[in-house]
Amino acid sequence: YAAYKLLKPNSTINPSIKKDSSKVVDCLNIEDLGEQTAFCRCWRSKKFPLCDGAHGPHNKETGDNVGPLVLSKKSK
Ligand code: FES
Repeated sequence: YAAYKLLKPNSTINPSIKKDSSKVVDCLNIEDLGEQTAFCRCWRSKKFPLCDGAHGPHNKETGDNVGPLVLSKKSK
């Protein structure tokens, strides 16, 4: 919440992904995911919507603390 309050009014979250599109929507079939898949929440990944580790340098540079959403299949 504190980081959100630091954003300038009307600032954007997305710096570069599909900027020619009015809304970024990604659809994946859950059956196509591996045992564990990390999804980007920092909007800096070159593999968006998947995490490529770009949150690390972003956090270091800005003092932010963002990271991926990790989905795992239940082990049988
Ligand atoms: Fe964005 Fe990992 S690259 S959360």
